[in-house]
Amino acid sequence: MVELPVLSSAVEMDILDSSVETMHHASAQGKKLYVETYGCQMNVGDSEIVKGVMHQSGYAMTDTPDDADVILLNTCAIRDNAEKKIYERLNHLKYYKKRNHDLVVGLLGCMAERLRGDLLGERNLVDIVVGPDEYRKVPELVHKASVGEQGIAVKLSRVETYDDIEPLRTEGISAWVSIMRGCDKFCTFCVVPFTRGRERSRSFTSIVDELKRLWDNGFKEATLLGQNVNSYLDETLNKDFADLLAESARAVPQMRIRYTTSHPYDMSDKLIETMAEYDNICKYIHLPVQSGSDRVLQAMNRHYTVAHYIERMHKIKSLMPHCALSTDIIVGFPTETEEEHEMTMALMREVRYDGAYMFKYSPRENTKAWKMNDDIPDDVKTRRLNEIIEQQQRISHAINQTEIGKTFDILVEGPSKRNPAEWQGRTDSNKIVIFSHDRSVSESASSYVIGDTIRVRIERASSATLFGPVV
Ligand code: SAH
Ligand code: SF4
Ligand code: F3S
Repeated sequence: MVELPVLSSAVEMDILDSSVETMHHASAQGKKLYVETYGCQMNVGDSEIVKGVMHQSGYAMTDTPDDADVILLNTCAIRDNAEKKIYERLNHLKYYKKRNHDLVVGLLGCMAERLRGDLLGERNLVDIVVGPDEYRKVPELVHKASVGEQGIAVKLSRVETYDDIEPLRTEGISAWVSIMRGCDKFCTFCVVPFTRGRERSRSFTSIVDELKRLWDNGFKEATLLGQNVNSYLDETLNKDFADLLAESARAVPQMRIRYTTSHPYDMSDKLIETMAEYDNICKYIHLPVQSGSDRVLQAMNRHYTVAHYIERMHKIKSLMPHCALSTDIIVGFPTETEEEHEMTMALMREVRYDGAYMFKYSPRENTKAWKMNDDIPDDVKTRRLNEIIEQQQRISHAINQTEIGKTFDILVEGPSKRNPAEWQGRTDSNKIVIFSHDRSVSESASSYVIGDTIRVRIERASSATLFGPVV
């Protein structure tokens, strides 16, 4: 069992005001909402929930801030540079407010709890601040702001899961499905337990029903989302995450099912076996390791050792030899020695990840590590970061070279961002594949549309992307 620290008073039982959730504001008629999303996939999913709530209240959506009546930024607080980016953006949005005095600007998400005073008070950058568990109140707060009343709602809840809210999804074939919220792990570096509050799970049946509806509406892929999906538990039905994954795979057998993020501490045999059993559960696991040193892992309160982690990797590869793996790594955690950094480098070589997200440690207020001395100088952090990035690029490149000559089933996503004459799709192992979309070359090969599954033979590969013709 993980021992939890005493919780802050901000976490309160929250009885939701039902008059708020169904209110249709006459003042919203014809008004346009623009939402900009920062941070992780949880925020992407949450933005769709906010759009769902606002849509129900009569707002139309726009994909540019230029003609918006309401601009909402869904923010991230994970590292200092994430917050800096949002301050810059808010300063820029002042010009929009100068141009349109009726414009309402709001800040949502993980920065809400921490920075409310600063943003609403003397700096006056936004009209409303709304935390991750208060999104049902957004229409009401926006309405009040439009008549000049600043508003704030940042209470965290032990029960809110937005189970009954239909997210407003705009991306075509791939859907984010939030299955649990919050995190109780309290890694010593991490702000998420403070910004998003306690862990709680959505109901099993409502998730499975949502997946069926998504399939009926043309979605081909769904990613089950949570900061720590292994902790998923429907207490009423006594169903855990592996049960949910299995039932999802059976309920929509043609749909690709993904999930993120899992924690190495409770990556169970049952979960790995379930993944192996169903073809439509994608063979890709993002399993953040953070460090290759047991001492640092302990200081991070990660609850596993390097040996445990490696053993889990072997179990995964023994049941799913072609399963792709990615991870998160932090360099420069307080007191990390050169030798411990080398241990991280060695772990990466041993596992041979397909990809990795790599970060310099950034102290976060309220966390346990905040009280430690941030003693690794920035130039050392930068050097260590560059070393792991370079090494990972070499490994990713080498792994991708071994894909050349193989043929993969690709879910077609549409034109590639760089060159619209080429299209892109994804393998089940989550690798991006670029293929030529020249209709004159081969009529049969080009008779596909977005959302189709086609076969592509890989001819060329970089560290990040595979390339080849449709076969
Ligand atoms: N819930 C996920 C990760 C959420 S945050 C998990 O536990 O796996 C995504 C990543 O950001 C983390 O895995 C970690 O590598 C990184 N991160 C979190 N807090 C950080 C901090 N204070 N400084 C640098 N990186 C951090
Ligand atoms: Fe943060 Fe750890 Fe929870 Fe992930 S598991 S969100 S890193 S506290
Ligand atoms: Fe950022 Fe919040 Fe996600 S801090 S990483 S948006 S949970």
